[in-house]
Amino acid sequence: MSARTFAKVGFALALIAPGTAVPQDGQPPFGDDTDTAYAETLWSALTEASLAGEETIQATPYEGTEPHGAVLQTLWTDIEVEGQEGMVVVKRNYGPAGISIEEVANNPGDSLASVTVMFRREEGYAPESANWFWAKYLPDGSLDQTPEGVPLAGRATGCISCHSEAEGGDFLYTMDRLS
Ligand code: HEC
Repeated sequence: MSARTFAKVGFALALIAPGTAVPQDGQPPFGDDTDTAYAETLWSALTEASLAGEETIQATPYEGTEPHGAVLQTLWTDIEVEGQEGMVVVKRNYGPAGISIEEVANNPGDSLASVTVMFRREEGYAPESANWFWAKYLPDGSLDQTPEGVPLAGRATGCISCHSEAEGGDFLYTMDRLS
């Protein structure tokens, strides 16, 4: 990661202090029942496509960056969710800090900390953020939560504010395929 990107990530991290996930009206902009149900369907689609779960396709692990993890794997393809086909990017986050690439490569199941996913939904779903649906899963497919207990699924504010700094306006850090 370049020094410039690193500075941007640091800046964005400072913006997402705990508490910002829930706006003043008390209604989170993400993580409601519709979002969690959709996230469950998305996880099933990922499992069926061997992109998550025990039978998952592996990829060469590489050294990661904050906040995702010490070692990462990134995969992308198109999948269908509720009748809509779209691009999906799956990032597997391995830890703890200090874990080696070799350890992950030899035993990925043991060190998987979380699976962060972006799925490109239909036009109009989230025009301000390139129509991405965001989700952060634990290795068993359940949803991780914000410190306030809001499930990380949907138009997740913390994910979006940092990814909005990615070059190309597509909210993708590892590629510029969509811009
Ligand atoms: C503070 C900044 C930051 C936050 C917050 C963040 N990410 Fe990321 N994300 C990154 C960076 C940097 C990368 C590129 C990492 C790499 O080198 O593989 C990335 C990569 C990804 C990728 C691979 C696609 C891409 O952009 O290259 C996915 C999927 C992803 N993040 C999902 C999420 C989800 C879901 C959340 C919220 C739960 C989230 N991210 C929160 C910085 C962030």
